[in-house]
Amino acid sequence: MIKNDKGRPVVIDCDPGIDDALAIFMALASDQLRVVGISTAAGNVPVEHTAANALQLVELAGCTIEVCKGATDPFCTKRKTAESVHGKNGIGDVRLPESIGKISDRAPHEMIFAKAEDCSGELEIIATGPLTNIAETLLIYPSIRNKIKRIWIMGGAAGSGNRTPAAEFNIFADAHSASAVFASGIPITMCGLDVTNKALIYEDDINTLSGFGNIVSQKSALMLRWYLGFYKSFGFNGVAMHDPFTVAVAIDPTLVKTKHLFVDVETEGEFTLGKTVVDMLGVSGKEPNVDVALELDNDRFVKLFKNLMISYG
Ligand code: RIB
Ligand code: CA
Repeated sequence: MIKNDKGRPVVIDCDPGIDDALAIFMALASDQLRVVGISTAAGNVPVEHTAANALQLVELAGCTIEVCKGATDPFCTKRKTAESVHGKNGIGDVRLPESIGKISDRAPHEMIFAKAEDCSGELEIIATGPLTNIAETLLIYPSIRNKIKRIWIMGGAAGSGNRTPAAEFNIFADAHSASAVFASGIPITMCGLDVTNKALIYEDDINTLSGFGNIVSQKSALMLRWYLGFYKSFGFNGVAMHDPFTVAVAIDPTLVKTKHLFVDVETEGEFTLGKTVVDMLGVSGKEPNVDVALELDNDRFVKLFKNLMISYG
């Protein structure tokens, strides 16, 4: 049984999703973070699945945390999903024990606002899916921008995308919401593909995980084997741990080197919709608004990942 009652208060906004699942397990196991709520977005799979997955994942970890179900679609574009990457159920078609608890009656924006009030300016958000819920919270409760200490975002890229040549999936899936979040004035750390594509674990690491004598690690290994199969079909020999790496950075920001840069999101382009436009050279003259992660220490990430996963018993 994991005691998740110490550390900095965070809400995880996610779209589980295999890597979201590992990210949730890492956050729950860390004594640096206290997960006070989880909100789910439509992303890798429809929100019915992401919400149900989040609840089952939290219970598998032995925790009781409010899980809220977000909007079924992005703010103003067509829904995009990624079943080919994460499986039909979103977690590699791995079966988890049926949930005992229920999804919260509260919408994400209600939960996030309430938790922000409770935490008196100390609440942080770790966002590992499309940013629909965060943008909705900003729209309904504009004052929230002064109550969130930092948002750690898995999303975007200074370089090329992974859903389109220009755009990373989380941003592409709801570019308008992402643009609103990046413009919110809330301090942001962006862990884009520039670092998360290099946050790799390999089959040996998955075998090690499978050997940990706890159900969380064993189910995680099954999910990662699915994920590895997808990456291998693209000629990769490892899996990019996009969301777990973002949680790791929230736990230990020294895992990355960042630059404070101006970032906005393309919301109109035929070929560039969802592109995070990162002003690397400061040519826009616009005030930097994001700490963009550009270099990482993957060895220390993998060590932290394994230490957290083995702590499940
Ligand atoms: O581009 C990677 C991101 O898209 C990850 O968060 C993954 O879970 C998917 O949501
Ligand atoms: Ca995700």
